[in-house]
Amino acid sequence: MLSGKHSVFLLLSFILFSVFHAPAFAIKKGLLYSYIVYMGSHEHGEGATYADFDLVTQAHHEFLHSYVGSFEKAKEAMIYSYTRHINGFAAMLEEEEAADIAEHPEVVSVFLNKGRKLHTTHSWEFMDMERVDGVVPSDSPWKSLWRGSFSCVTNHGRPMMFSQVALCVFYCVWPESPSFGDEGMGPIPSRWKGTCQHDITGFRCNRKLIGARYFNKGYLAYLGGIAKFNRTLNTARDYEGHGSHTLSTIGGTFVPGANVFGFGNGTAEGGSPKARVASYKVCWPPFEGNECFDADIMAGLDMAIHDGVDVLSLSLGGLASDYFEDGIAIGAFHANMKSIPVVCSAGNSGPSPGTVANVAPWIVTVSASTLDREFDTVIQLHNGQRFKGASLAKAMPESKFYPLIKAAEAKLAKESVENATLCIRGTIDPEKARGKILVCLRGINPRVEKSLVALEAGAAGMILCNDELSGNELIADPHLLPASQVTYKDGLAVYAYVNSTKNPLGYIEPPETKLRTKPAPVMTAFSSRGPNLVTPEILKVCPFVHYVVPFKFAQNLMSPLPGVNIIAAYSGAVSPTELNFDKRRVPFITMSGTSMSCPHVAGVVGLLRTLYPTWSPAAIKSAIMTTARTRDNTGKPMLDGNNGKATPFAYGSGHIRPNRAMDPGLVYELTMNDYLNFLCISGYNQTQIKTFSGAHYRCPDIIDILDFNYPTMTIPKLYGSASFTRRVKNVGSPGTYTASLRVPAGLSISVEPNVLKFDKIGEEKSYKLTLKVTRPGEAITFWRHNLV
Ligand SMILES: *[C@@H]1O[C@H](CO)[C@@H](O)[C@H](O)[C@H]1NC(C)=O
Ligand SMILES: *[C@@H]1O[C@H](CO)[C@@H](O)[C@H](O)[C@H]1NC(C)=O
Ligand SMILES: *[C@@H]1O[C@H](CO)[C@@H](O)[C@H](O)[C@H]1NC(C)=O
Ligand SMILES: *[C@@H]1O[C@H](CO)[C@@H](O)[C@H](O)[C@H]1NC(C)=O
Ligand SMILES: *[C@@H]1O[C@H](CO)[C@@H](O)[C@H](O)[C@H]1NC(C)=O
Repeated sequence: MLSGKHSVFLLLSFILFSVFHAPAFAIKKGLLYSYIVYMGSHEHGEGATYADFDLVTQAHHEFLHSYVGSFEKAKEAMIYSYTRHINGFAAMLEEEEAADIAEHPEVVSVFLNKGRKLHTTHSWEFMDMERVDGVVPSDSPWKSLWRGSFSCVTNHGRPMMFSQVALCVFYCVWPESPSFGDEGMGPIPSRWKGTCQHDITGFRCNRKLIGARYFNKGYLAYLGGIAKFNRTLNTARDYEGHGSHTLSTIGGTFVPGANVFGFGNGTAEGGSPKARVASYKVCWPPFEGNECFDADIMAGLDMAIHDGVDVLSLSLGGLASDYFEDGIAIGAFHANMKSIPVVCSAGNSGPSPGTVANVAPWIVTVSASTLDREFDTVIQLHNGQRFKGASLAKAMPESKFYPLIKAAEAKLAKESVENATLCIRGTIDPEKARGKILVCLRGINPRVEKSLVALEAGAAGMILCNDELSGNELIADPHLLPASQVTYKDGLAVYAYVNSTKNPLGYIEPPETKLRTKPAPVMTAFSSRGPNLVTPEILKVCPFVHYVVPFKFAQNLMSPLPGVNIIAAYSGAVSPTELNFDKRRVPFITMSGTSMSCPHVAGVVGLLRTLYPTWSPAAIKSAIMTTARTRDNTGKPMLDGNNGKATPFAYGSGHIRPNRAMDPGLVYELTMNDYLNFLCISGYNQTQIKTFSGAHYRCPDIIDILDFNYPTMTIPKLYGSASFTRRVKNVGSPGTYTASLRVPAGLSISVEPNVLKFDKIGEEKSYKLTLKVTRPGEAITFWRHNLV
């Protein structure tokens, strides 16, 4: 069950020192590929020194020596030696050598150095995920969400100790951004072991941004001879905007007077404005769609754990894969061993099922929903119809109706209708579009590129119609001319109107900021979703009938959080549209993506770590999951961006409620032993598991994945009956908890015992929940319930 899902990655392999690349099925003897050899944990004590790390590297060279023939060859082949927490190395190997090494008893896994992507909608290459994002007022409601959570801390009378916490983002950073100013911050805690890696761009850290490192060897090895050394490849500096944005979302300091294009003005601040932050850059300019490579991710995670970070936030990922052939899952596992929670984005590959990334149960996986803030840009048609769209563009020059033209009708003679409809560059005839409002269809090319095409054709404005997949999802973009994006349904009406009359006319009203809009949150269509393709009992595989059971369920933790139009710091090296043509530079910008929701959760996790320093990462995660809610601000079940009610595959355990997460009552604890048991069930044998657990662990003889103490319960397919055993730990006041069940038709459910009484903090009790099918054949796709 642990193989066979990775052939797609093989196709992307590259040969060192050659501009020629061959797919894996053509691998021949003599060709080298970058591989990762994972060997579990080190046995360093607390006081490990550089001498110890050097010994490890030497041991890795010697190990490789026996496979490649000489010590010199081994040294030359080595890309990284992971010496601190993760044991293993990355090296250039022939396929046969890699296969031989995999047989060694000390080796857990050997896998190709795969590429991954940033989970920002700026990754235009990502399927048809063309989303770029809007520029926005800084006085945003998500701030009030955070104010809420932080004032709660003060209400508890606890001092904000956040300055002792180092949050860490796996990104590059624009260090001069005002969000990373260190005014008023005390000395850096002495336990911090990180450094600020120097470069020729003048990168400097301070008491706020306390560390920055970059890891590019895996990327360069993958690119082989193609990579040219240049300054953008030898620095932790942000040349893309994503890193600065995510980092400032977690821990940006207060910046008054922040505004973009005058669209808004107010104080920008991160989720935990007092936290220290550190940046580990592992992502580079995309190559064949891949930006971040496993070898670099593992090197970065190994170092971040060593440096002493308290929370790890990674807004990147690839396809869900076998846990020990996945650099993020491996690194996150080691972080958990050191009690460091790891928060990752779920990905932006929705709305198709089975797209969720970062599915390991020791990772907090975050999806994206909308805010209760919209940037309404109303479209008026001459027939009296009005549609509420979104954008952050300027007003039309005159308050009058302009002629409307479908892009397909404005096409250059030689271009295809399909491409013109999408407003692909070079397809629109300025003779036909000049002075008119051009109607473009969403998809394939970046949304803002479509506005560039309209601008270049001399159009007066643009209406961007969602395609069926993007449904109701509206994103306010910093378009280059007056524009508005409308839903699929409204887009059809616009097309129908244009079709229906000889002289269609329309007008785009200037954007207006609307706060406390309803319904919110709504799941975004782009947010990746379950089922989990790696462990169906934690995720589910369509088209099975799924029974999803208490406590709040999820395929993993998928706490949707604001991931659309999030305003935060930006890089000084790129324009808000990321188009070269666009010379604008802004210190703040909005972006959308699960990349943006992930750091919000990281902020809450940091807060919980501060409040409850002894809680395990699993307890923190459980607190967030079991207090989440699945209804929106109208009290109705949360909707999905493109089709009615959202399902648990999309929203997981629900929308996070930071205030409640601080007082969860009971938590589902998971110890390292539970995770090792999980690995036994997942098909790893004792020999492999011993490499990171030490000598004492034994796989239990009988073990059922349904008893894995996860805060959710999931059965991919239910025949007859099944039961789950769970252990809950009291972290609140003494109290009595009673199971309350709303049993769906076709099932009977019992909980034993029905009442759990806790007398003190830390007390643990178990219960067993049994499901029985009473009417077989009745399709119950989802069922959720609160148990306590
Ligand atoms: C630096 O290298 C990257 C990746 O090869 C490339 O995309 C970028 O254009 C280069 N920059 C310069 C200034 O040469
Ligand atoms: C933004 O607000 C600040 C403080 O209220 C003010 O000093 C500044 O001039 C404003 N900037 C703009 C562009 O409105
Ligand atoms: C559409 O444009 C793409 C490039 O943007 C091109 O490769 C493709 O051939 C075009 N399709 C048609 C039907 O012209
Ligand atoms: C508008 O007309 C085009 C053909 O000219 C057709 O393909 C399209 O479906 C029509 N759209 C609507 C909404 O009627
Ligand atoms: C454990 O798995 C490894 C790799 O699949 C294999 O080489 C080894 O023989 C297995 N050991 C046992 C005890 O089954």
